[in-house]
Amino acid sequence: MEISEKSKSEKIMDIATKRGFFYPSAEIYGSKAGFWTYGSLGTKIKHKWENLWRNYFLSLNTNFYEIDDCNIMPKKVFESSGHLKNFNDAMTECEKCHSRFKADQIVEDILKIETGSLKEAELTKLIKENKIKCLNCKGNLSDARFFNIMFGLKVGVTGEDEAFLRPESAQAPYLAFRREFEATRRKLPLGLAVVGKAFRNEISPRQGFFRLREFTQAELQIFFDSEKINEHEKFDEVKNYNLIVYLASDKKLKKISCKEMNEKLKIPKFYVYHMVKFQEFYLNILKIPENRFRFRELDENERAFYNKIHFDIELNLETLGGWKEAAGCHYRTDHDLGGHQKGSGVKLEITIDEEGKSKKVLPHVLELSFGVDRNIWALLDIFFKEEKERTLFAFPPYLAPLDAAVFPLVNKDGLPELSEEIFSDLFKSGFSVFYDSSGSVGRRYRRQDEVGTRFCLTLDYDSLKNKDLTIREVESMKQIRVKINDLNVILKDLLNGEDLSKFGNFI
Ligand code: GLY
Repeated sequence: MEISEKSKSEKIMDIATKRGFFYPSAEIYGSKAGFWTYGSLGTKIKHKWENLWRNYFLSLNTNFYEIDDCNIMPKKVFESSGHLKNFNDAMTECEKCHSRFKADQIVEDILKIETGSLKEAELTKLIKENKIKCLNCKGNLSDARFFNIMFGLKVGVTGEDEAFLRPESAQAPYLAFRREFEATRRKLPLGLAVVGKAFRNEISPRQGFFRLREFTQAELQIFFDSEKINEHEKFDEVKNYNLIVYLASDKKLKKISCKEMNEKLKIPKFYVYHMVKFQEFYLNILKIPENRFRFRELDENERAFYNKIHFDIELNLETLGGWKEAAGCHYRTDHDLGGHQKGSGVKLEITIDEEGKSKKVLPHVLELSFGVDRNIWALLDIFFKEEKERTLFAFPPYLAPLDAAVFPLVNKDGLPELSEEIFSDLFKSGFSVFYDSSGSVGRRYRRQDEVGTRFCLTLDYDSLKNKDLTIREVESMKQIRVKINDLNVILKDLLNGEDLSKFGNFI
């Protein structure tokens, strides 16, 4: 019998589930699609990603801060935000086996067309005309109909208060704006970020770890004076920077300078400046290859109901068959503060001082929104490599879940003791390290390569005499020998991206 080769997606999923990146939540009870547990390694990489995000985006302006809020919010929040009315997905159901499908997704997958702006009737027509059938039993599919994808719940013993799990972290900063504006420096722009959970009752989350029902977002809401939307104090620094864009008008991938984006395409400077920061984060910090990154402009019919300008950040992922949304740059106008001001009856308009005069402003919002989990999957997709003898993740050094693994060459003659001492020192110094003494060194290397451990530190008989060890780098497999006394400092530099060759000759 011929054994079929596993797809890249299956191979990554195998490693992810077996080695503790992530696995289905509540698995022993038969898990539900769209709910996942981050395992021991996955949690490390997630925290590293989130901290890189915080360090990068919160340092864009000294008036940007992080807050933390509840996942459960009252119904009125979502009446005012528009989610109760508009946060809908189109569903189609198999008339025979009752499997449910996201109507636009099934049409897109089968007909290979974009469905962003299609309504129920149009989706239904496409399903019927093209005889699209149930993916499970080939039964007929029902008409498409929209349903709200928020999770509702009741609060209190008598359940009198209707509430919802937040479908985006963004609502927290809008609700906190009034207090934070006072608590900080009564200054715009004011940035409020949340890194936290959001919840969507997705119809059929079929894309593995990419479309989840409970997921993590990292979102920064920047409140600004709309009269200043075509200004940014640092725009001149970026005006010649080229953005990689796919415009709604011509659907072509190209590079456009910030100056041109602003002057020809009329995208405001405040927006364009932040597009640069997205692109720099992906290319320079996460080290995503340029050919895997683009901004895709969404036209009027495609964009979310609260957005006036909307570019998605898409990454080209082999495991998911092409360009997939990883983040979004959203100009949300005063939709949110305006909605909450009206819905709550609380004044959210503020007074700011400008050139000695006071001015009333209902701030507008630019949202930088990232789906953390889908970014983690993207890293696995992009940095996965297969070689003749091994598979590896060639993550950037500071993103690898494990900084280093420590191996004694043999389990005798004092080598385990010295290795354990080094492991314990590194652990106490805050490195994420793993100790492995079982099997051949070759096997141990393969096990660490498979999860992307950046460096392997091996101690041999010479280590006992010379107080040194070898450092091996995952991607090149090159090795150098360094003194144990220098290890801490060298490892820190290597994890910050310094080249191995700086610290010794290859052996
Ligand atoms: N906050 C924007 C989003 O969830 O897509």
